Amino acid sequence: MLQLKNISKSYGEKTVLGNINFEIANGEILSLLGPSGCGKTTLLNIILGLTEQTGGQIMYNNEDISHVPMKNRGFNIVFQDFALFPHLTAYENIIYGLKNQQKQVSKQDIQEYIDFLELEPHLNKRISQLSGGQKQRVSIARTLVMKPKILLLDEPLSALDGVIKESIKERIQSIARDFGLTTIIVTHDPEEALTLSDKVLIINDGHVAQFGKPADIMNQPANAFVENFILKQLHIKRQNIYRLFGEQYA
Ligand SMILES: Nc1ncnc2c1ncn2[C@@H]1O[C@H](COP(=O)(O)OP(=O)(O)OP(=O)(O)O)[C@@H](O)[C@H]1O
Ligand SMILES: [Mg+2]
Repeated sequence: MLQLKNISKSYGEKTVLGNINFEIANGEILSLLGPSGCGKTTLLNIILGLTEQTGGQIMYNNEDISHVPMKNRGFNIVFQDFALFPHLTAYENIIYGLKNQQKQVSKQDIQEYIDFLELEPHLNKRISQLSGGQKQRVSIARTLVMKPKILLLDEPLSALDGVIKESIKERIQSIARDFGLTTIIVTHDPEEALTLSDKVLIINDGHVAQFGKPADIMNQPANAFVENFILKQLHIKRQNIYRLFGEQYA
């Protein structure tokens, strides 16, 4: 279980996050949803241990990890820009992080992730020879081989569109389900958050606007922000689809 209690973050006079509280069970998928600049990446980095919170507490399986360094937390992140090494092959990128690891990861385990993400045909290619979706999968594989206790993804779908986006989305869902892996995903797309996750934390200007299950958020938006910003976007999208293609597609 991951619990955040009154987490806040300030840079000088500027408060970027205030009073963030939530709790998720192991194996759940959580989306952090909100507009640009609301504090999503900052919160993800605080959970990862890359950024220190100004106040509050982080508990993981009832242990206080608020001041545990990043490398000892055992959480791993897929960065938004992939951050792959361009001069290495896909395979070399996937196993790169294992060099400095104490724990043993078997060839069989590595192969399992390669197969799962359908990367076999691309292993010997350089990063520049891969498409956006293939780079994304290499980047996810590289993080999964580290066997994270929590998988953190910063806008994993924003560089993708259409069919690729849907297929990566489904894969992220099955990673969480098949491997029982707690997963936290940053997104600014309400549809993505509401369809992908067990719980959604909606952030507005550094504060929690609503935390809950997608269905509860849809049925009972907690305030005008959730109603206007989140649900209206979905509604406009649905209306456009309806207008163009008819009711059965909306
Ligand atoms: N190192 C820093 N020093 C000062 N202010 C910062 C720093 N890092 C982030 N901020 C500020 O904190 C706020 C939240 O930034 P953050 O990157 O967390 O937003 P975000 O929700 O991830 O936005 P986006 O969707 O655009 O990625 C912004 O106003 C940003 O300017
Ligand atoms: Mg961000």
